[in-house]
Amino acid sequence: QKDGFRFFMEKEIYEQSDVVSDCMIGRLKDKEINFDEIDSSILEGIKEIKICACGTSFHAAITSSYLFERLSKIKCNVEVASEFRYKDPLLTKDTLFVVISQSGETADTLEALKMAKKAGLKSLVICNVNNSSMTRLADYTILTRAGIEKGVASTKAFSTQTVVLWMLSLYFAKIKGSIDEQTLQKELKALREVPKTLIVESKLHEKCRRLSKRYLHGHGFFFIGRDVFYPLALEGALKLKEISYLHAEGYPAGEMKHGPIALADPELFTIALMPENMLYDKIKSNVEELSARDSTICTISPLDFELSDDFIKTQKLEHYMLEFFEMLVVLQLLSMEISIRLGNDVDMPRNLAKSVTVE
Ligand code: F6R
Repeated sequence: QKDGFRFFMEKEIYEQSDVVSDCMIGRLKDKEINFDEIDSSILEGIKEIKICACGTSFHAAITSSYLFERLSKIKCNVEVASEFRYKDPLLTKDTLFVVISQSGETADTLEALKMAKKAGLKSLVICNVNNSSMTRLADYTILTRAGIEKGVASTKAFSTQTVVLWMLSLYFAKIKGSIDEQTLQKELKALREVPKTLIVESKLHEKCRRLSKRYLHGHGFFFIGRDVFYPLALEGALKLKEISYLHAEGYPAGEMKHGPIALADPELFTIALMPENMLYDKIKSNVEELSARDSTICTISPLDFELSDDFIKTQKLEHYMLEFFEMLVVLQLLSMEISIRLGNDVDMPRNLAKSVTVE
């Protein structure tokens, strides 16, 4: 059932445009956002959002923390579920407890949810599997409608989670009155463009395939970005690690000078996310610093950047979240093509399981 694709991961990358459209049906309306699963009472008495998740779902969580603070104006913090469990967390009832999970079965995330329930917090799960342990337990469930994800490396689960969270941040913003109508309409317009942005252009895929041959060795990769492109960098690095077994780290671009830049040399590969609509000049100067130290640099950007060794040109888009989704596809394709060249089993990477139901 790979429908002519070489791997399920490839099929699932290509499916993202359609599943994201499905995930918006009945939610993204003409002039507003609506979720049948919840209503405005979800925010009654709530001052803060706390999110727990693991792996790729954790990266969606970090991405959303920027959106909840920027758009909904609600304080939001995010924790890896396995850390949260044993730190004797302080839980107060003015916190909406959110868990994000593709499977709804991840042991650490499930346990975090149980702890929050026990402490009497309102809980919400963003999940892809209906009737999973987490959806049975949480007070509210929003399904991501990504369909079955077979590749161990998560792709469409992440894009649908991120879209749901973006819509949710706007829904909360509307309830709280923290967004003006003009900004809301601008955000909704951008949301409508997401499925189009996720269509995989054959030229872009071919570019990633050709470039992949230059990135099969070296002593490590740094994926760098700022704002929501930082969790996207984490996700790019995780994808590469999982299926290529190369060492990769995601890093906030502005932090490189506080240590990691010491590693820079031609064998250190920097994959720089340089969106036009989010802190372009800042990331540019971070990349210039790495270039001056001879790191080999691959930039992903709609704007030409003369210092890069390799360049993946993305479309000019009006909203940074649209750039986020296009760059996500680039990172997924790049890691998949590197893995294929290395002769790995893309769908069944060593040492990994699709659902981690043990601690
Ligand atoms: C990465 C990946 C894992 C999962 C993590 C959480 O590609 O698939 O990191 O994201 O195990 O799983 P869920 O979302 O099912 O809780």
